[in-house]
Amino acid sequence: LFAGGAEFLKGVVAMDGLPPADRPEVCFAGRSNVGKSTLINALTGRKALARASNTPGRTQEINFFTLGESHYLVDLPGYGYAEAPIDVVRKWQVLLRAYLSGRATLRRAFVLIDARHGAKEVDQEIMTLLDKSAVPFQVVMTKADKVRGTDLEASLARTRAALAKHPAAYPELILTSSEKGDGMPTLRATIAAIG
Ligand code: GTP
Ligand code: MG
Repeated sequence: LFAGGAEFLKGVVAMDGLPPADRPEVCFAGRSNVGKSTLINALTGRKALARASNTPGRTQEINFFTLGESHYLVDLPGYGYAEAPIDVVRKWQVLLRAYLSGRATLRRAFVLIDARHGAKEVDQEIMTLLDKSAVPFQVVMTKADKVRGTDLEASLARTRAALAKHPAAYPELILTSSEKGDGMPTLRATIAAIG
């Protein structure tokens, strides 16, 4: 699937701008700065396909990428970012929630969580929205290169405990580092298996 290449399709700012729901899609959700856009670049082997930056709030639209001819990859604006003007934040959040709860062809949401911190309150809120919308989701731990063994164990345990409360969650976590490439083969295989 990934051999077919990935291309940017469009950035969407309102639900009526979504591309036709004509193929399976997976999205990447998570707190601002957790590494969603960087992960899409690492997965697709394209350094600057999705715009990433150290400034939180980088991704401000729902960005659609085609994966070969058969799937969409979707990069979402981050949640839990309070620095942008309040009306702007509210607009993103309304759109994000509308997308996560109302996209018929959304096969799986990957919820990204920083391996240093584990699941936070705001992650749980998004997980609850996905439960209610019956969107299966799987947690991807990011920035594994930045955390030491014992701290990692603690954040994994915290995240697993949080997942147990969510019926839409897959129990398996995928541990990744976009920097080192860890977890990319697993994540690619997981997406390729989604039809
Ligand atoms: P928003 O679009 O603002 O929601 O952020 P995002 O989740 O898309 O984060 P982005 O991909 O822009 O990455 C944020 C910062 O984290 C960048 O400086 C990345 O280089 C860094 N980063 C992302 N993934 C990793 C990783 O696996 N390891 C390390 N060390 N840094 C990472
Ligand atoms: Mg981004």
